[in-house]
Amino acid sequence: MRMVDLIEKKKDGFKHTPEEIHFIVAGYTKGDIPDYQMSAWLMAVCFQGLDKEETAILTKEMMHSGDVIDLSRIQGIKVDKHSTGGVGDKTSLVLGPIVAACGVPVAKMSGRGLGHTGGTLDKLESIPGLHIMIDEEDFVKQVNDCGLAIIGQSGHLDPADKKMYALRDVTATVSCIPLIASSIMSKKLAAGSDAILLDVKYGDGAFMNTIEEAKELARTMIEIGDSLGKDTRATISNMSQPLGYAIGNSLEVKEAIDTLNGHGPEDLLELCLQAGSHMLIQAQKADSLLSARKMLQEAIDSKQALRTFCAMVKAQGGDDAYVRHPEMFPKAKEVIPVYSQTTGYVKDLKAKPLGIVSMKLGGGRETTDDEIDYSVGLILHKKIGDFVKKGDVLVEVHTNTGLSKELQKDILDAYEFSNEFVNKPILIDEVLS
Ligand code: URA
Repeated sequence: MRMVDLIEKKKDGFKHTPEEIHFIVAGYTKGDIPDYQMSAWLMAVCFQGLDKEETAILTKEMMHSGDVIDLSRIQGIKVDKHSTGGVGDKTSLVLGPIVAACGVPVAKMSGRGLGHTGGTLDKLESIPGLHIMIDEEDFVKQVNDCGLAIIGQSGHLDPADKKMYALRDVTATVSCIPLIASSIMSKKLAAGSDAILLDVKYGDGAFMNTIEEAKELARTMIEIGDSLGKDTRATISNMSQPLGYAIGNSLEVKEAIDTLNGHGPEDLLELCLQAGSHMLIQAQKADSLLSARKMLQEAIDSKQALRTFCAMVKAQGGDDAYVRHPEMFPKAKEVIPVYSQTTGYVKDLKAKPLGIVSMKLGGGRETTDDEIDYSVGLILHKKIGDFVKKGDVLVEVHTNTGLSKELQKDILDAYEFSNEFVNKPILIDEVLS
């Protein structure tokens, strides 16, 4: 087989055989197929697409390109959750503990943030001492002991995706649904859980701009999961504004802890309760969404979810006193208010520019080698639907480097106002399965 013929075949819109997809993925992972040929093939896929069968085979080949984690030593149905990423998205820090507190083992591998979206691992590392690189034995033991572990991916999980994603990033081949779906699902499937709950976001701060694209991505991932025998469901959620009020690592951890203490933001709690209810059903711990929701609320009210989070933090070497006393987190040197220059209802609040401001304050990475300042970020005081008077605080900026005029302008420009009453946006549009 020659790669040049396979590029030609896809360029002309023909379907690949399983053997051809194996040749491409295995050859590229080993280094036998050079970047320039893989780039040409990826671009051909962007234009011609892959059908259901080709996408499922590509996913399976990528999943088996490295380690596949064996979670069979953990009792019960393991349900993993994946969010396609957004601004202020600290869902895993709440969802993991509340679901685990209901008796569903949560063995989760998360990623780091890049650009305007934050990553769960960076948020967790703002807890002093907490480490996220844990070997498979200890990972399994931790989930058996305390029901919950959120760790980094092992070095040899899905090497095909590592190489392909890096190449897509620099060849304008990221935004292609079968490639995104196989990239996400191959990592989730290699991480070994029995069922998967996807949170596919759309809107300004998300990967998918429109709800139609989000649904198409979700359907493609569900089909992949089903074809490989894993119960896969997806919430389609709106990321037209940041989730909750906090953006930035330790600020988001504190908001997650508030939520576990029963006084978190309404939208974050609602997303966690809805997604969590589906996870309890997938794990066969509840037989209706209503009873699942009650169990999750009870895990918060009884503080069992908070205790589960403390146990996880301790098991991963972190100081759980920070969870019990979040005021211990180091604070940024200054908190600078940004005032509204307008009176009216907030009509639009763009998530992406606010994520970029937080990144530029030091809360995120522009390139993978950048160091993170855990204490900086933004606290929103006003969100879509709120009434604002000129001179009200819109945003509090937590900073160690002051606040430049440009960043202040970026924050003000993220808001759009209306004289008319504005409804709060719907958070979850649909759940697909
Ligand atoms: N996230 C991934 O893991 N892969 C993609 O291709 C896009 C988003």
